[in-house]
Amino acid sequence: MSLRVETRDGEALWSALGPLAELRIRVFREFPYLYEGSLAYEEGYLEHYAHSPRSRVVLVWDGDRVVGASTVIPLADAQADVQEPFTRAGIDLSGIDYFGESVLLREYRGRGFGVRFFELREAHALEHGLGVCAFCAVERPADHPLRPKDYVPNDAFWAKRGYEKVPELRTTLSWLDLGEMEQTAKPMTFWLKRLEGSAS
Ligand SMILES: CC(C)(COP(=O)(O)OP(=O)(O)OC[C@H]1O[C@@H](n2cnc3c(N)ncnc32)[C@H](O)[C@@H]1OP(=O)(O)O)[C@@H](O)C(=O)NCCC(=O)NCCS
Repeated sequence: MSLRVETRDGEALWSALGPLAELRIRVFREFPYLYEGSLAYEEGYLEHYAHSPRSRVVLVWDGDRVVGASTVIPLADAQADVQEPFTRAGIDLSGIDYFGESVLLREYRGRGFGVRFFELREAHALEHGLGVCAFCAVERPADHPLRPKDYVPNDAFWAKRGYEKVPELRTTLSWLDLGEMEQTAKPMTFWLKRLEGSAS
């Protein structure tokens, strides 16, 4: 297996949007996302990445196939619904880097790519002079009927990387859940980390 990691910025990431959308649709079918993905939804969602010269995608390739991806975009360039809790709390967006998602096909997990995604996105933040990294995670009820018995939340992994859950910073993102007919708004809570060595 020949695995390699590549980063693409701004316009150079356009050609990765198709594989990224496909991975998101496949991986986010799993709990807790339960996303019934469509290319139309993906086009709208990924638009911000396509239009920001400061966005970056990290790709994991196995030969000529993309098997994992992770995205980052300065919060100031991101979609309005992830900016909203910060604006509401009077926090300046201009010092914050927003981490979109990390998606890796199951058979490639547990080999360090998840950690690498964080390292490369934090490097992006430092390059752009952004001292705080932020991402949001979906909240599902503990007794959700589709929660697998062996489900392990990412919380410990994120805490180990130095991220802290900030319950006051909450938003909603809407998508179509598996088996539903209409999109519903999901509560999303932010996790933040201030980078050492950043000027801001
Ligand atoms: C989140 C995700 C990208 C992590 O990728 P990964 O390559 O498996 O992560 P890593 O191999 O770097 O491991 C991350 C940590 O989890 C631990 N881990 C990984 N696989 C594990 C397993 N099967 N069992 C127990 N621990 C495991 C690793 O030991 C590591 O811990 P460490 O920080 O103490 O070293 C991947 O699991 C995934 O795509 N999940 C589904 C989508 C998702 O939840 N994305 C995140 C929100 S957008």
